[in-house]
This record gives sequence, structure tokens and C-alpha cells, in this order.
Amino acid sequence: MGELPRESNQLVEQQVYSRIGADGFERLCRAFYARVANDDILGSMYPEKDLAKAEARLREFLVFRFGGPDDYIQHRGHPRLRLRHASFAIDQSARDRWMQLMNQSLDEVQLPADVRAVLVGLFEHVATFLINR
Ligand code: HEM
Repeated sequence: MGELPRESNQLVEQQVYSRIGADGFERLCRAFYARVANDDILGSMYPEKDLAKAEARLREFLVFRFGGPDDYIQHRGHPRLRLRHASFAIDQSARDRWMQLMNQSLDEVQLPADVRAVLVGLFEHVATFLINR
């Protein structure tokens, strides 16, 4: 009687920002976009040569999605991620490469293991949802 559900002990998405702060997301997104710039599949998909703005959009989205300030919404409105990715040809290999570069970036920035698990859970889910070819 009275045993709490297992989930209540686990880190939830809304707590990630308080664990790693703006700095954690900044380091992660910087590491990720440094890889995108030189990537043979993803590199050419990004419309702007200067990836700084794309990096800021992903960072603000993740900060918002994981319990931080809502600058993304102020700047971009509702995320509509499937719509905003519709013009990019995202097949299984593009999806897998995105995850591969993100996992390498996570290796580089060394976040706590429970935080990493929550981040990867969302990345895997959204990346699959964005496949459109
Ligand atoms: C599945 C592989 C993916 C590919 C190939 C891809 C590709 C792209 C490209 C080419 C852009 C345009 C860059 C720009 O903002 O100028 C973009 C934007 C964006 N992506 Fe992805 N993406 C992928 C997965 C994801 C995932 C998993 C997330 C979130 C968890 C995400 C979040 C975003 C966000 C927030 C933007 C900016 C949207 C906006 O406000 O315009 N993407 N992506």
C-alpha cells in the first residue's frame, strides 16, 4: 500500500534544465553543429552556410522542451517540427546520422548518465517521427 509509482523516482524531462542549465545545452548544441558542418549526409541539408542561427534554434527549443525559459516560443512560435522539417529529405539514413552525431556530441560533453538517458529518449522519438521520405 502506498508505494509510489516507479516513475516518480526517475528524472523527468521538465527537470533536465535545472540539472544542466543553459550551459549544458549550449555545450551540447555547439558540439553537435560542429559535426553537422562537416557531415557528408547532413552538411548540405542545412540551408544557411553559417550554422550559428540553426544552432541557436535547436538550443532554444531544447531548453524550452526540457523545462527552461521559453525563448524558443517567443522567437519561433509553436514548434511544428514535422512541418518545419518537411522540405528536408529525412530518410532512415539521415535520421540515423543525426542520432550518431548527437550521440558523439553527448560523449564529448559528458552530461550525467540519467540526464543523457532522458535526452536520448526524446531525440530517438522525435528523430523517428521526423522521417518523411
Ligand atoms: C532526423 C534527423 C534530422 C534532420 C536531418 C534535421 C534537419 C534539420 C534542418 C536541415 C533544419 C533547418 C536548420 C535551420 O534551423 O535553419 C532543422 C531545424 C530544426 N530541427 Fe532538425 N533535423 C533532424 C532531427 C531533429 C530532432 C530529433 C530535433 C529535436 C529533438 C530537431 C529539432 C530542430 C529544431 C528545433 C529546428 C529549428 C526549427 C525552427 O524553429 O525553424 N531536429 N533540422
